[in-house]
Amino acid sequence: MPSKESVVPITRAREPRDTLARPMRDLRISVMDRCNFRCPYCMPREKYHDSYRFLKTAERLSFDEIVRLARLFAALGVRKLRITGGEPLLRANLADLVGELTALTGIDDVALTTNGVLLSKYASELKAAGLARVTVSLDSIEPAIFRRLCGGFDELEAVLDGIAHAGRAGLTPLKINTVIQRGINDAGALDIAARFRGTGVVVRYIEYMDVGNRNDWRPELVVPSAELHARIHARWPLVPLDRNYVGEVAQRYAYADGGGEIGFISSISQPFCGDCSRARLSSDGALYTCLFAAHGLDLRAPMRAGASDEELLDLIHGRWSARIDRYSELRASIRASAAQEPKVEMNYIGG
Ligand code: GTP
Ligand code: 5AD
Ligand code: SF4
Ligand code: SF4
Repeated sequence: MPSKESVVPITRAREPRDTLARPMRDLRISVMDRCNFRCPYCMPREKYHDSYRFLKTAERLSFDEIVRLARLFAALGVRKLRITGGEPLLRANLADLVGELTALTGIDDVALTTNGVLLSKYASELKAAGLARVTVSLDSIEPAIFRRLCGGFDELEAVLDGIAHAGRAGLTPLKINTVIQRGINDAGALDIAARFRGTGVVVRYIEYMDVGNRNDWRPELVVPSAELHARIHARWPLVPLDRNYVGEVAQRYAYADGGGEIGFISSISQPFCGDCSRARLSSDGALYTCLFAAHGLDLRAPMRAGASDEELLDLIHGRWSARIDRYSELRASIRASAAQEPKVEMNYIGG
């Protein structure tokens, strides 16, 4: 039985630092490995077909197990939770989990990353359960390109509607993550900025990364943020903003004319491993200390075998203390190495 009632005291003394002195502040929890899209860079149809073996329900962590682990991570210094997938809104009764996570001592921010298709259905319920804000992935607002980038679904209007619903429900600051690939959706990048300028929605452009093993990443596909910044700045002058918190991945800018905020996430051209405080929990309960990791630490097996909170705290503490990850800084040499192991897939640990 998960010890839901156990109270793990929060004290700075037990907060681990990794080998580069980085604390653990942010936990990204994948609650569902399935998705209702088949974005070619994440879950290409050829691989994720009808008979693909996704996790079985019993293999996924239950809500009680997720809440128990989240409480332990909070005791070790985590302050921020992000619920991801696959597509997290495919997980039944997600608002119940949100309610429990937002009530945890020590957690001061709970956000959700979604493709937006089901947002209009769930936005109010999520807000009522205590969710602070959502981030929606949206790579194009041109219907044909959107369709291609999500694997063949005509859901653009549903996503835009979901964004509008989330805004009205107060799931703000509402952010949009736009991954840009050269020759594929870079021509329409400014259309997205134009569409959301002045609405309070923050668009963040993400450099295309070599996540997972299936996305056929090539350096030529990356549009450096500096190039995109220059294009946007030429049309709507931008002024830099200070970062919101240590370890923030986006570089923030305001439109000089008062049109709001945009951001750039530049993991390829300006890696930000130096203050990376993000841990990731897969839907089957493995702890990953980097988005590009090859191996996770299984927390589900010990938990289901009856491990105490103290034993689990020791496991997590030990793994974070031994952490050496800085993939984005070492990308070129790691990719050149013949010994590179397969990386974890994005739908399994979220972005
Ligand atoms: P805020 O809390 O709103 O600042 O957002 P966040 O930092 O949680 O960012 P979000 O989860 O929206 O991440 C945006 C994108 O940045 C992800 O989808 C990834 O593409 C990229 N990203 C996030 N975290 C990491 C990371 O640790 N390493 C790398 N290389 N990329 C990351
Ligand atoms: N590079 C950058 N971002 C990616 N995402 C998915 N695959 C990649 C990639 N290869 C983003 C999605 C979503 C988040 C979960 O991760 O667009 O916003
Ligand atoms: Fe696309 Fe996100 Fe689903 Fe992956 S998890 S297929 S990026 S919508
Ligand atoms: Fe953190 Fe790994 Fe991303 Fe670097 S590459 S910022 S260590 S998750």
